[in-house]
Amino acid sequence: MKIHFADIGAVRNKPDEVMIFLVGADKRLSTAAQAADKRVGGALSRAVKSGRFSAKRGQVANVVAAAGVLLIGTGETKALDFQSLENLGGALIPHLNAAGVKSATLVVEDIKGTKISLPEAAARIGYGALLRSYRFDKYHTKMEDDQKPTLQALTIALSNAKVAQAPFSELEKVAEGVFFTRDLVNEPANVINPETLAEETRKLSKLGVEVEVLGEPEMYKLGLGALLGVGQGSSKESQLVIMRWNGGGKGKAPVAFVGKGVTFDTGGISIKPAAGMEEMKWDMGGAGVVIGLMKALAGRKAKVNVVGVAGLVENMPGGNAQRPGDVVKSYSGQTIEVLNTDAEGRLVLADALWYTEKHFKPKMIIDLATLTGAIIVALGTSRAGLFSNDDRLAEQLFRVGKEIGEEVWRLPLAEVYDKQINSDIADMQNIGKEREAGSITAAQFLQRFIEKGTPWAHLDIAGVAWAKKDSDTVPKGATAWGVRLLNQLVKEYYEGR
Ligand code: BES
Ligand code: MN
Ligand code: ZN
Repeated sequence: MKIHFADIGAVRNKPDEVMIFLVGADKRLSTAAQAADKRVGGALSRAVKSGRFSAKRGQVANVVAAAGVLLIGTGETKALDFQSLENLGGALIPHLNAAGVKSATLVVEDIKGTKISLPEAAARIGYGALLRSYRFDKYHTKMEDDQKPTLQALTIALSNAKVAQAPFSELEKVAEGVFFTRDLVNEPANVINPETLAEETRKLSKLGVEVEVLGEPEMYKLGLGALLGVGQGSSKESQLVIMRWNGGGKGKAPVAFVGKGVTFDTGGISIKPAAGMEEMKWDMGGAGVVIGLMKALAGRKAKVNVVGVAGLVENMPGGNAQRPGDVVKSYSGQTIEVLNTDAEGRLVLADALWYTEKHFKPKMIIDLATLTGAIIVALGTSRAGLFSNDDRLAEQLFRVGKEIGEEVWRLPLAEVYDKQINSDIADMQNIGKEREAGSITAAQFLQRFIEKGTPWAHLDIAGVAWAKKDSDTVPKGATAWGVRLLNQLVKEYYEGR
């Protein structure tokens, strides 16, 4: 879908265009809406007066059939922030598609009482609409007409369209990163495997990202035994993808993002039950976010050095698969007793994290992983689990998460949990001695591969990587949760310093 910005004057002479107007909590029609109301014999004022329409935020009065107009409530305009404006834009999309609209113009005349400028607001509305317009329907060879999206273009009309274009262009680059992640995560595992996913990342080189891929021979030589053990039951070769964006000063330490990329997690020999196993195609969600984030940062030419690392494996049972009880040697030199082959994500990350630290000495490192079912039990699907050895970094993530609507909730790291992963025959075991606190023992495991002085945060995104229902800016399916959060974190705290 295309988003355009136009000056209000230019819009008046398109009589056939479906128009959208914002209606504040006072339910008063704006100047342009009043003019439209006259043309359609008062249909808009009748719709606004109807008892059902209170103009609360996101509420829609659909007068498309009668008057070619859609009204959307903003609630109290002074309460509008970036997030609610994005949600408004997103909320429009399904209504326009349901009404079969191909092209529509939203008029943004004023939003009284906010600190947000009109062009900024218009850009945010456009961004929200764009994010919601995402579809992954390439595998539908037939589709009922009423399922097909109709909307192709949304024009946002305001007094100074030019000024809205600049902030929107930047947001559009972020959306492109989000869409790349969503595409990769939505793809089934017969299409996206470690080899094909590594191949996809090479597309980033067009944007100036340096992409390096290590295959099994290279990793074997270096000694990434933890990661390799997970992938050894698969016919697909495990890969470590290293992506670098050098938008900052030469020689400046990069910020690093590391993602779990298990392109399918059967559980291995500790095999998962059949019901719901198909969900494990999105067990590469962490890697997907890192890849989309690199696209967003490079796309908007962020002034920062970034390294993104994705550990790509397929966790399969089979004659060559890793067995429960196997002991592997990680890249760090620490040995691991693999008591459960389904606790594979931490094994992949152990080596990916160590590689990242050893080779890049980053000033900060954040990993993302669909790591534990336990985090879904603890936090549900509205917040990711956050673990960190650094209060400042944790605070930054919390703040930015609230601001942009990808929220995190911090859980503890502590000695009592760390003890749980000591092994009888190796340096550590890959599951806790007890079932309790499963997300925390997983994070403790990762921390054993982080050097003391490195600020580090681990985001357990098992609950947020996939949506079973549509929300305003995220259609159901892969969410790309984390691309927006980390893009904004970089922008606010790490760029240009
Ligand atoms: N990929 C799963 C975690 C997961 C579960 C992600 C549900 C998304 C939805 C992970 O590899 C896993 O299997 N974890 C186990 C760990 C256990 C064996 C200690 C789990 O959570 O059950
Ligand atoms: Mn698993
Ligand atoms: Zn997994």
